[in-house]
Amino acid sequence: MTIPIKKICCIGAGYVGGPTMSVIADKCPDIQITVIDINTDKIKAWNTSDLSKLPIFEPGLSNIIKRCRGKNLHFSSEIKENIAEADMVFISVNTPTKTKGIGAGEAIDLKWIEASARQISKYATGNTIVVEKSTLPIKTGETIKKILEADNSKNSTKIPRRFSVLSNPEFLAEGSAIKDLEEPDRILIGGEDNLSINSLINIYSRWVSRNKIITTNLWSAELSKLIANAFLAQRISSINSITALCEITDSSIKEVSNAVGSDKRIGDLFLKAGPGFGGSCFKKDILNLVYICNYYGLNEVADYWRKVIEINNWQKDRIVKIIVKNLFGNLSEKTLTILGFSFKANTNDTRESPALDICKKLLNEGANIKIYDPKVSEERISMDFNDDLSQFKRDKWEKSTTIYEACENSDAVIILTEWNEFRVIDWEKVSLIMRKPSWIFDTRNISNLENARNYGINVWSLGEVE
Ligand code: NAD
Ligand code: UGA
Repeated sequence: MTIPIKKICCIGAGYVGGPTMSVIADKCPDIQITVIDINTDKIKAWNTSDLSKLPIFEPGLSNIIKRCRGKNLHFSSEIKENIAEADMVFISVNTPTKTKGIGAGEAIDLKWIEASARQISKYATGNTIVVEKSTLPIKTGETIKKILEADNSKNSTKIPRRFSVLSNPEFLAEGSAIKDLEEPDRILIGGEDNLSINSLINIYSRWVSRNKIITTNLWSAELSKLIANAFLAQRISSINSITALCEITDSSIKEVSNAVGSDKRIGDLFLKAGPGFGGSCFKKDILNLVYICNYYGLNEVADYWRKVIEINNWQKDRIVKIIVKNLFGNLSEKTLTILGFSFKANTNDTRESPALDICKKLLNEGANIKIYDPKVSEERISMDFNDDLSQFKRDKWEKSTTIYEACENSDAVIILTEWNEFRVIDWEKVSLIMRKPSWIFDTRNISNLENARNYGINVWSLGEVE
């Protein structure tokens, strides 16, 4: 038995809400889906006729928007009506780390989740299945249920209402969101109410085989999402911790990673060494796990997971120290070329990007920097620098429009994001326009550095023999 779902509303038109609802709309033409957001500029951007100006860049997204928008996929700022009409409401709002008060720096700020629950409570009519799509601390479902049920008396209609809460965490990665949504490794649904669970299964099973849909209790689903992210981040810190050892023992991180990852029990994914993991979620989700463990008195477990973040910070510091040391301990009056500003390739997202931290440290050393990134806008970079740093003067950095413009008169090229175009740089051309002695620091191990060496450029490659 299932409840027929004719209308879905998704609260939050961000990196998760936008692509997730686009794929559901594409796969379920009979369901009307509206994504709502309090940010009216974002909604305007989702409705733009110029598809290159959508608020987020994801390969394959604009094609789906073209197919579905205005048919069964809508983006709107109209909150009341869309919640009232929905049979199912997804909550896909931001859940950042708290910046003040109890748990600041670790716990999740549930302000936006609570506001969403109150909106649903106020406007929902009839039976509503509420789906947690955001990544949440374990037991948040309980809070949502309490808010939904407590406010029942205040609803604007007199129709009796019934709520059911499910956890359906999202595992998409940015840059491959559409592929991840279309061909997921698994769909996880946690809850107690079989009728609601079956209704959500009914949606996903249009394109995901039933054996990939895992059902659990609500708390296991909430916790599994945090743990999946913690495990992925832990692998990156593990391999990054070994880069330093490789550099001093004449071994190669690429070779070690390949040899270790060839063991089926270990697997070869998420073993690429780099400048540290970025993105909006790994750090905040591990910090949240640390907070939860300490809250329940599991201090050793908390310390274990905190180390994953400490190694991540250590890696960024280490890279900056290596750059400074090789440039004679002094960056003032020097120009550095930054290739890649997003936290990974194929996205314009810069949240927690290692490039941002590394650039700030280089600017602090007095360097001038020229940044090239194929998708991150100058406006975004400016906002990132100004978020907490009024001391970073605008004349100390500039955004370049090509790789080669960014390399003009530069002392060092620093590759921080693994964009494909950085794999095929014409190092001969670069060697002619850089200041001597010239350096390349490749923190992603993607460039043809042998070739660069042949043109007289000094080369440092993460975790490789110098
Ligand atoms: P985001 O910041 O890109 O988007 C969240 C949106 O929610 C914002 O546009 C915001 O304006 C809107 N919002 C907040 N409160 C609202 C309210 N009361 N009513 C209407 N709109 C509201 O965040 P995101 O990256 O999409 O992440 C959302 C959640 O999904 C987080 O919990 C995150 O941990 C999780 N997640 C993110 C990713 C990812 O790749 N970004 C992947 C999996 C899970
Ligand atoms: C990550 C997870 O992969 C998703 O499953 C999850 O849904 C999402 O977080 C989330 O909850 O937000 P995302 O952060 O978009 O996705 O991107 P990843 O591909 O995981 O990369 C994260 C960071 O790790 C990037 O900075 C990337 O460059 C780095 N990374 C990744 C490495 O340094 N080495 C690797 O081998 C893999």
